[in-house]
Amino acid sequence: MAHFKELVFSGVQPTGNLHLGNYLGAIVKFVDLQKSHDCIYCVVDLHAITVAQDPLQLTANIREVTAAFIACGIDPKAHIIFNQSQVPEHAELAWVFNCVARLGWLNRMTQFKEKAGKDRENASVGLYAYPALMAADILVYRATHVPVGEDQKQHLELSRDIAQKFNNDFAESIARNGFNDAFFPLPEPLIQGPATRVMSLRDGTKKMSKSDPSDYSRINLTDDADAIAQKVRKAKTDPEPLPSELEGLKARPEADNLVGIFAALNGTSKADILLEYGGAQFSTFKSALVDLSVAKLGPIGAEMKRLVADQAYIDAVLADGSERAGAKARQTMNAVKDILGFVRR
Ligand code: TYM
Repeated sequence: MAHFKELVFSGVQPTGNLHLGNYLGAIVKFVDLQKSHDCIYCVVDLHAITVAQDPLQLTANIREVTAAFIACGIDPKAHIIFNQSQVPEHAELAWVFNCVARLGWLNRMTQFKEKAGKDRENASVGLYAYPALMAADILVYRATHVPVGEDQKQHLELSRDIAQKFNNDFAESIARNGFNDAFFPLPEPLIQGPATRVMSLRDGTKKMSKSDPSDYSRINLTDDADAIAQKVRKAKTDPEPLPSELEGLKARPEADNLVGIFAALNGTSKADILLEYGGAQFSTFKSALVDLSVAKLGPIGAEMKRLVADQAYIDAVLADGSERAGAKARQTMNAVKDILGFVRR
């Protein structure tokens, strides 16, 4: 396999409230990876329109996710923050990948089945083809590492399958065009730590999600200290005190979830948290979790509010990021056109 320069890419949909799951499952890792890698972080507005969006709300959401990236600590100068629709090569490469991916592969995608629900005939073609666009997002930069939450694992595997099939199908042309033995890297998912799947605060067997009708199921990045405290205090638990060892969290999904959240916010492991709180009642543990959550999330929410109010700054970040991302994407797309045999200027 050819050697690819390490590059991080990931995306977040601008489809409503960013929550603790997005933060701990993805954005915290985005921030960390800046130290070791070049990083490209994308507000994936093309993905958002696979289901109906109100245009005014979408505009606001794109700016809010951008503000969240910056407020959480991503540096838009040292790295790249942009919105997908400003770099047309994402959609262009997605079309090529629609012709590489097989129907059978897409038919296996569990997220499509969940999102389309019972009325599958009425789902958009875009929702079905979504994973090919996701592969294009990553591979248009030939990115090698992709930090995501657990729920994106299957989509990442599909991205690898698409990259592999393109490399195989066009191997001769890839070599003729001067690339070693592979044009696309097989992107590696980075799914690590104690909170790769943050669960609903109301039901430890359901994923924390933007679309849950109950706002008490999630902590939003824009929640104030009172809202955070209320939601943590009301979070579902069981009557037993916390166990002292990981084994004791099995079959206790709500306890497991809160311990995972605590560990991730604290930058430690679940085992470490249980060493400290094993034997404690939930009332004690929840008080500590409220303090920790407010200390970590309070400043982010406040900074997001400040940034969202400065629309000119946010839009300038996106314009600058899109220009720098676009230059890289065009290079890849030109090579892809040569490999496919298209005639270009
Ligand atoms: P999205 O917008 O649904 O979520 C953004 C990120 O947050 C993670 N996440 C969670 N992690 C832990 N627990 C949860 N409850 C939870 N909910 C969400 C997601 O795993 C994700 O990392 N298809 C993607 C966006 C995307 C993308 C890409 C990602 C488009 N193109 C290319 C990586 C690379 C999505 O809908 O994420």
